[in-house]
Amino acid sequence: MLSVALDGPAGAGKSTIAKTLAQKFGFLYVDTGALYRAIGKYMLDHGKHPGDPAQVVPLLSSLSVELCYREDGQRVLVNGEDVTGQIRTQAVSAAASQVSAIKEVRDFLFSLQRELAQKHNVMMDGRDIGTVVLPQATVKIFLTASAEDRARRRYLDLQQKGDDTPYEEVLRTVIQRDYDDSHRSVAPLCQASDALLVDTTGETLETSLQRLEALILEQLEKKGERLP
Ligand code: DC
Repeated sequence: MLSVALDGPAGAGKSTIAKTLAQKFGFLYVDTGALYRAIGKYMLDHGKHPGDPAQVVPLLSSLSVELCYREDGQRVLVNGEDVTGQIRTQAVSAAASQVSAIKEVRDFLFSLQRELAQKHNVMMDGRDIGTVVLPQATVKIFLTASAEDRARRRYLDLQQKGDDTPYEEVLRTVIQRDYDDSHRSVAPLCQASDALLVDTTGETLETSLQRLEALILEQLEKKGERLP
């Protein structure tokens, strides 16, 4: 099976790029952030502090998280309930970041991610895909952009959804999340030694897409692999 690991900080364009290229290449697009978001939301719904392992870990045994794939893309189910439409709020983003620092949460989600890559050609986006989940990924990319650029993109996304969180607050959240994600002791966000660094600062989405597509195809060819 072929796998492309696409890691990097929030707002670098990973999900749009991964989704678009997965479709183009005929790969399954796996958005692993949705798994952490689903758990973060579950903890908030149950009145638990998402950053407190003593409150979070005992609930994992009563929790099933699944991904399923439909025409319109990936859906995430928690105990059978589709929560895909409810995991993109600022509150859930913060909760996801907090639960993702808990080792037991990461272990809980590990096999689900691995199994998908064993059964399908995947384009998997996350923070630790190239370093922990798929250390043998066929191609590894670390996608980044300046914090200001990423905050600007997120700000515009939020505005489109009718959320008028001010830009300064979005930027502050982006910087805080970067810090938390890269300073946690378990599977911190970092570039795998064999990952290619791509910085999309100042680029349009179209340019980044073209650049990434060419890069992935070149890497596959170098490894003697071809698209299905
Ligand atoms: O990519 P995202 O913004 O949907 O991710 C939500 C949170 O989950 C983010 O704060 C980092 C965490 N995460 C992680 O720790 N490991 C992953 N593979 C994916 C996401």
